[in-house]
Amino acid sequence: MTPTSHATVLGVLISGSGSNLQALMDGCASGYIPGRVALVISNKDEAFGLQRAAGAGIPTQVIRHREFPDRESFDRAMDQALREAGVELVCLAGFMRVLSPWFVGQWKGRLLNIHPALLPAFPGLHVQQQALDAGVRFSGATVHFVDEGLDTGPIVAQAVVPILPGDDAPTLAARILKQEHRLYPLAARLFCQGRLSLQAGRAVVEGGAWDGQAALINPEN
Ligand code: GRF
Repeated sequence: MTPTSHATVLGVLISGSGSNLQALMDGCASGYIPGRVALVISNKDEAFGLQRAAGAGIPTQVIRHREFPDRESFDRAMDQALREAGVELVCLAGFMRVLSPWFVGQWKGRLLNIHPALLPAFPGLHVQQQALDAGVRFSGATVHFVDEGLDTGPIVAQAVVPILPGDDAPTLAARILKQEHRLYPLAARLFCQGRLSLQAGRAVVEGGAWDGQAALINPEN
């Protein structure tokens, strides 16, 4: 990217800690993501991510879902705030509300989510426990475009981590979260570089690289 290139305007929706928000803000600040976070919206007053954003000088809004009569009117309020901020890409980062089909339609192809499992395995909640209960040897994180379903949209990028003897849901969650902080900035970078798009229901990445020899095996010996 040249210095005169357009910086894509990001809006981030959160409900909690906002460590993925932090990774996105850091990625923008370092220039890794050719974009800038213009607005952070939380549906919860106590979300720590609001403090992270304020600390970085990024405008925040709390839009409380309980103050709206239904899902769509809440979503319309968020939509208006995002448009007023000039947002081009919306990133859900630990945002714990299901979005209405109306909102998803408005932002189709410009709406990303991160989920702490290798979708389509283990959608929904308590995903680390789901993975442990299933006895799989790997889990990970997925960034996907959001569609009308719950964690069902076209997959953009995935990071794989092993499940190790003695893991419980918190240890596995921590291992996955560490990779989320690499994966979400990567996906945002691809979008902001104009290399990621939604085409005919698929996430298409231009020029993605892969070491043809690489594989993960667990246990290794
Ligand atoms: C992450 O595990 C993310 O995958 C899930 O919610 C968690 C949010 O963590 N959707 P944080 O608020 O970004 O720290």
